[in-house]
Amino acid sequence: MKPTRRHVLLLWMLVCSGLTEAIEPISTSIAVGMAAALTGFLASYQNILYYFHECCRPQWISFNRTGLKTDLENKLFGQHVASRIIVKAVTGFMSNNNPKKPLVLSLHGWTGTGKNFVSQLIAKNVYKKGMDSNFVHVFTSELHFPHSSQFDTYKSQLQQWIKGNVSDCARSMFVFDEMDKMHPGLIDSIKPYLDYYDKLDGVSYRKAIFIFLSNAGGESIIETALEFWKAGKNREDIKLSDLETALSLSVFNNRKSGLWHTSLIDKHLVDFFIPFLPLEYQHVVQCAMAEMKARGLEPDLSVANQVARDLVYFPKSERVFAVKGCKTIDTKLDYYT
Ligand SMILES: *[C@@H]1O[C@H](CO)[C@@H](O)[C@H](O)[C@H]1NC(C)=O
Ligand SMILES: *[C@@H]1O[C@H](CO)[C@@H](O)[C@H](O)[C@H]1NC(C)=O
Repeated sequence: MKPTRRHVLLLWMLVCSGLTEAIEPISTSIAVGMAAALTGFLASYQNILYYFHECCRPQWISFNRTGLKTDLENKLFGQHVASRIIVKAVTGFMSNNNPKKPLVLSLHGWTGTGKNFVSQLIAKNVYKKGMDSNFVHVFTSELHFPHSSQFDTYKSQLQQWIKGNVSDCARSMFVFDEMDKMHPGLIDSIKPYLDYYDKLDGVSYRKAIFIFLSNAGGESIIETALEFWKAGKNREDIKLSDLETALSLSVFNNRKSGLWHTSLIDKHLVDFFIPFLPLEYQHVVQCAMAEMKARGLEPDLSVANQVARDLVYFPKSERVFAVKGCKTIDTKLDYYT
């Protein structure tokens, strides 16, 4: 019998659903045998199917701790505080087989400091297909929830999506970009999923990962970094505790971003607040060098310096931090190389 696309899908569903492993070995072989007879495939085709179709299984989802650590060390620049917390948070969560709640990370900082990039690195080291995985979902306020008048529709849609996706795969990841622009009610609607529930409507969300990205608190992080700089202190000596007070104060006092933060903080739904420092000239140079390397070019320091010199820095008098961080390096490099 010639296998058709339908046969492949059938067997894939059987394999992906975990049926073949959930039942004991003898019945497994029966199940596989049935599937094989049914489709004309041999049991060994399982591995081939695992290989070609992304499944919610360890073949496709397994955490690479060293990978995340080295990626953060080699590819993320100027973020010693964030790096440390992220490795600790994700490693702790992924090595716990029975977490009490989903992992909720809130990434704060100015544009171009690496918040999006970090979520990509996490995805890359959890999912074989990284951001292209079917189990990684990115929501942007402007793209997915643009009209506040349609908020009720968005709300039920978002809840259905989260529920549907987590039912399909407990190890799902959700990234919410521009969290500070999101309707507070929309954030309220996802709160139940972040909490310490064993199950909600029969679905457990405790293995999921939620990542919130926002500029909220960015200004107070900059203030702290600038104070260190002005005092002639080493940037690497900035500790989380130096930023935490500033971050929570600004987050609580800022009317615009306060709404969602307050409700999330009050209930301790966010596990880690992760500050991203503004980037300096040297970091922009590092970004440019890394980008050249990633493009398969020989990293050229003079080009990297040229790119970094071209950027705008603030505050106006001291010109310490790059206004857009590493964000426009891409296009600038196109120009110089
Ligand atoms: C984990 O990451 C390291 C460093 O990027 C890589 O060398 C290694 O092959 C990865 N391991 C797996 C199992 O993918
Ligand atoms: C999963 O989320 C996506 C949006 O990222 C949505 O389009 C899809 O319908 C969801 N799947 C389920 C089963 O709800």
